[in-house]
Amino acid sequence: PKTVGLPAKETNGHGNPRDFVAKMKNGKKRLVIFYGSQTGTAEEYAIRIAKEAKSKFGLASLVCDPEEYDFENLDQIPDDCAAIFVMATYGEGEPTDNAVQLMQNLSDDSFEFSNGEHKLDGLKYVVFGLGNRTYEHYNVIAKQVDEHLTKLGATRIGERGEGDDDKSMEEDYLEWKDGMWDEFARVMGVEEGQGGDTADFAVTELSEFVPEKVYHGELSARALTKSKGIHDAKNPYAAPIQTSMELFQNTVDRNCVHVELNIEGSGITYQHGDHVGVWPSNADVEVERLLCALGLHDKRDAVIGIESLDPALAKVPFPVPTTYVTVLRHYIDISAMAGRQILGALAKYAPTPEAEAYLRNLNTSKEDYHSVVADGCLKLGELLQLAAGNDIKVLPTPENTTAWNIPFDIIVSSIPRLQPRYYSISSSPKLNPGTIHVTCVVLKYESTSDRIPVRSVYGVGSNYLLNLKFAANGETAPLLVDATGSPAAVSAPTYSIEGPRGAHRDGPVYKVPIHVRRSTFRLPTNPKSPIIMIGPGTGVAPFRGFVQERVALARRTIEKNGPDALADWGRLSLFYGCRRSDEDFLYKEEWPKYTEELQGKFQLHTAFSREPPYKPDGGKIYVQDLIWQDRAQVADAILNGKGYVYICGDAKNMSKSVEETLARILGEAKGGSAEVEGAAELKLLKERSRLMLDVWS
Ligand code: 2AM
Repeated sequence: PKTVGLPAKETNGHGNPRDFVAKMKNGKKRLVIFYGSQTGTAEEYAIRIAKEAKSKFGLASLVCDPEEYDFENLDQIPDDCAAIFVMATYGEGEPTDNAVQLMQNLSDDSFEFSNGEHKLDGLKYVVFGLGNRTYEHYNVIAKQVDEHLTKLGATRIGERGEGDDDKSMEEDYLEWKDGMWDEFARVMGVEEGQGGDTADFAVTELSEFVPEKVYHGELSARALTKSKGIHDAKNPYAAPIQTSMELFQNTVDRNCVHVELNIEGSGITYQHGDHVGVWPSNADVEVERLLCALGLHDKRDAVIGIESLDPALAKVPFPVPTTYVTVLRHYIDISAMAGRQILGALAKYAPTPEAEAYLRNLNTSKEDYHSVVADGCLKLGELLQLAAGNDIKVLPTPENTTAWNIPFDIIVSSIPRLQPRYYSISSSPKLNPGTIHVTCVVLKYESTSDRIPVRSVYGVGSNYLLNLKFAANGETAPLLVDATGSPAAVSAPTYSIEGPRGAHRDGPVYKVPIHVRRSTFRLPTNPKSPIIMIGPGTGVAPFRGFVQERVALARRTIEKNGPDALADWGRLSLFYGCRRSDEDFLYKEEWPKYTEELQGKFQLHTAFSREPPYKPDGGKIYVQDLIWQDRAQVADAILNGKGYVYICGDAKNMSKSVEETLARILGEAKGGSAEVEGAAELKLLKERSRLMLDVWS
C-alpha cells in the first residue's frame, strides 16, 4: 500500500496503535478504563466496571493497559466521554509496573498534552483504588491520580473509591459503586436500563477436535505450540521437584514444606530476595463438588471451546479448547469464598424456589452474607449445595448433590482465574545454582460461622505443595481429623495432578508451574555493612537466601584473599522466632554451619515463644524482645555502622511491633523519644532503602 505523505505513525492503515482516543472513536466507545494492575485484580475490577457500564447504560468501554498507550491526547477525549482509572498501590506505595509511565506523565509539570498545554480542562474521570490497609501508604496511587487530574483541571465524577485488599475489597467496591453510578448517570446524561443482559463468553461442546490441541492444565497457549519464549507470569514453567521434605518435627497437625525446584535449562534466573509465583490446582473434593452441583459430573471430559463475545472487554482467561474438569481443576478459582455479587445472577438457575430464595437473600443482605458465607468460608460449590439442602460434609456425588442449571459461560465469566501464590525464595542462586527453594507453612484453620456446619478450611497453594511433597516421596497423606473430631474425608485436600503431557507430572517426576517475580529485597553489595534480619516463622525464608549469598561470597573471598579475608566484614544478625525449639525451628541444623563458614560474622538469635524462659509476668518472648535486649549493638550497627535492616513475615502484628521497638531503640540512642526522633530515623532509613520490608497478611 502507498504510504507516501502520511505521518510515520499512521502508515499501517489502522492509525497509531498507541492512540486510545482514535480507538474509542472507531469503536464508538464512550468510556476509556485504565488499570494499574500487578497481579490482575485491578484489571478484573476494570473489566467489571466496563461490564456494568454496558449492562446498566448500554455504554461500551475501551479497557486499557496503560503501558500500551500514550497519554498526550488525554485532553482529546470527547465531551460526552469519560476516563476511568482503576489503580492498585503496590509494595511500599509504588505504582504497579504497568502504570509507571502514566504516573510520570500526570505528575510531570512539563508534560505537554496535544493542545500544547499542561491542562485537562473538561475531562471527566472516575477513580477506584486498590490498596492494603496493613501497609503504610494505603491507596496512595489512587490518591495521587486524583490529585494530579484535579490539579490539571479535570473533574471527578462521584467520590473516589478505595478498596482494602486486606479485608474488604469486594464490600468497599460494592459500597462505592452505586453512588458513583448515580452521579455518573447524572453527569453523563444517561439513564439506567438502556443496557441488556450481556454474556461475556459462548461455551460450545465440540464434537470435532484435534486431541493434541486440547489443553489439560497447561497454563499458557504457548505450552502446546512449543514456541520458545521466556517464562514469566504469562507463561509459567513446569519445574520438576528435585527434593521435598517436611521441616516441622514432633507435630502431626502442622506442616511446613521445603521444596527444591529444578530450573536448569529453563532460562529462568533469580536473585536472593526474589519471589516465586507458584500456580496451584484446586483440590479434588472441590472439583467434584462443582462438577456435581453444575450437573457436569458425567460430562467432565467433554471437550469445550470458549469464545469471547466481546474480545475488547473480556479475553478468554485461559487456553482453549479444554475440558470442563480442566477448567475447574486448573484454571478458575473455585476454592475462593463465593462473591456476594454473583449470587444474584446465579439465583435464577436454582433447582427449587427455596434454593433461589436462599441465594437471593445472601445477595441482598450484607449481614447474612457475612455471618454465613464470609465467617463460614463458603466456596461457591458448598454454597450451591447448602442452598439446595445438601450435606456439605460428605464426599460430593451426583446422588447427594443437587444439580443446578447454571450455564457454564456464567461460571467462566463470574469466577476469576486461579492466581499464582507468591513465596519469598529461601535460597541463593550462588550457593544453589539451578534450584529455587520454597519454604511454605501449610495453611489450615476452622470456619467460624455458627449458622452452618463448622469445617476445616485449607489454603490452596500450601496444601497443593504439601500434596506434591507426599506424592514425590511416595508417602500417603495422614488421615486428617476435622473440627468435629471425625475423619475429614471430605476436606482432606488431595490433588489430582496427572495432567497429560507433563503439566504437573511427567512419569515419576512431579512438576510445579512457576515464574519468578523480581524484588528489591536485597543485601547491599558491600559485605562490610552490618545486617540485621528479623524474620520469625516462615519470615525466615528470604534470610536463608541472604545468609547463603554471603556464604558463597565468603568462599570466593577466602579463596582469593586468604583465610583472614572476612576480618572487616560486618556482622549479620538474624532474629528468628518460633513456637518451640523441638517443633517448628526451621533449618535448625543449617544455621551453625553458616556461622562456622562465616567465621562467627553470622549470629542467630532465637525466641521460642511457647517454651521457657518466659517474661517475668509470664508473657511470651518474641523477636522484638530479643532486639530490645540487644539494643546497644542494634543501635550501633544502624547509626554508626550504616547498617541495613530487613523485616519479613506477618504484616499485621509482628512487623508493626518490630518497627515500634526499632523506633524505641533509635529514639533512645538519639537521646529522644520513640515517637519523634525514633520515628524520624526509621523514616530516613526507609527512604534510603536501609530498612526494607517483605511482609504479608
Ligand atoms: P506464638 O504463636 O506463640 O504467639 C512464628 O509464628 C512465631 O512468631 C511464633 O513463635 C509466634 O508466637 C510468633 N509471634 C506471634 N505473634 C507475634 C508478634 N506480634 N510479634 C512477634 N512474633 C509473634
